[in-house]
Amino acid sequence: MSNVVVEAKDLRKVYPIRRGLFKPPAQLQAVGGVSFTLEQGKTLAVVGESGCGKSTLARMVSLIEKPTEGSLTLDNTDAVNYPASEHRRLRQAVQLVFQNPYGSLNPRKKISQILEAPLAINTDLPAKERGEKARAMLAHVGLRPEYANRYPHMFSGGQRQRIAIARALMPNPKLVVADEPVSALDVSIQAQVLNLLADLQAELKLAYLFISHDLAVVRHIAHDVLVMYLGHVMEQGPKPKIFARPLHPYTQALLASTPGIDSKARRIVLKGELPSPLNPPSGCVFSSRCPYAVDICHKDRPLPRMVEERLVACHFAGEVGVDPA
Ligand SMILES: Nc1ncnc2c1ncn2[C@@H]1O[C@H](COP(=O)(O)OP(=O)(O)OP(=O)(O)O)[C@@H](O)[C@H]1O
Ligand SMILES: [Mg+2]
Repeated sequence: MSNVVVEAKDLRKVYPIRRGLFKPPAQLQAVGGVSFTLEQGKTLAVVGESGCGKSTLARMVSLIEKPTEGSLTLDNTDAVNYPASEHRRLRQAVQLVFQNPYGSLNPRKKISQILEAPLAINTDLPAKERGEKARAMLAHVGLRPEYANRYPHMFSGGQRQRIAIARALMPNPKLVVADEPVSALDVSIQAQVLNLLADLQAELKLAYLFISHDLAVVRHIAHDVLVMYLGHVMEQGPKPKIFARPLHPYTQALLASTPGIDSKARRIVLKGELPSPLNPPSGCVFSSRCPYAVDICHKDRPLPRMVEERLVACHFAGEVGVDPA
């Protein structure tokens, strides 16, 4: 049996944007061809600035939206065109944790109801066993089992995020997609929730697709990193390689702006504004903000290629921003 939980090939998502009654809709490419493989017990972190397509990728991988193009295999099953009979199993295999632990828990429901809901819908477990499972899961995420009788407003942000994680784990998923799961929490609480996620991963062999704009958060939890800019992959590969020696100027800029990370890249500051995805620069999408851009960068889009054990989409990967290898 292979350990691969998810395999994505060239996933694309294009949204038609209406521009008025008599104009044809514009095409907004939110994700422009992302491929990755994620194994049991591993974390792939997706990083990049606001609007680069992280949540769109998360929605495709968690089966909320279908990709416009590309293929997705989840738990050895085609997760784009699957028969209705596979629907339930696939939906259970991937679960989501969102950024906002206030908005994602129904305030009118007791914690026990929130945790038991996925089992009541998807399994034939009797009520007593569902209740036992919910209380056991609360203990598992570091909360007291008797909290099951309380309502979400009675908990702090960190505790609510533990409850959201408990809810995600109730159907025994293979993959957890976490979209900025600690961004709304205080830094001290962030570390606790990240440690919990790491412990649960080790114990349950979970695969994580971990979305974050913050490289300091990703540093401790990721095995692999995928850096996105305007829907495209800039750099992708093992975290230690990328953090020690980022080769794409965009990764170099992101790491330089993250305190406490000592990479071998030169400090660069991005120029200009983030372009609109409705009107991306020609050539390399990063060219309008890249301090090293020359003619070819504005003309030809660089395809990701293997350089120093990771993929980099830059004509000058390894030649700019770092000392020669
Ligand atoms: N349903 C939609 N219809 C049209 N455009 C969309 C839709 N969802 C997202 N977009 C656009 O797609 C692009 C990527 O959005 P997405 O939410 O995936 O970014 P993100 O990286 O998650 O950003 P953030 O860090 O702010 O959460 C943005 O330009 C956004 O405006
Ligand atoms: Mg988002």
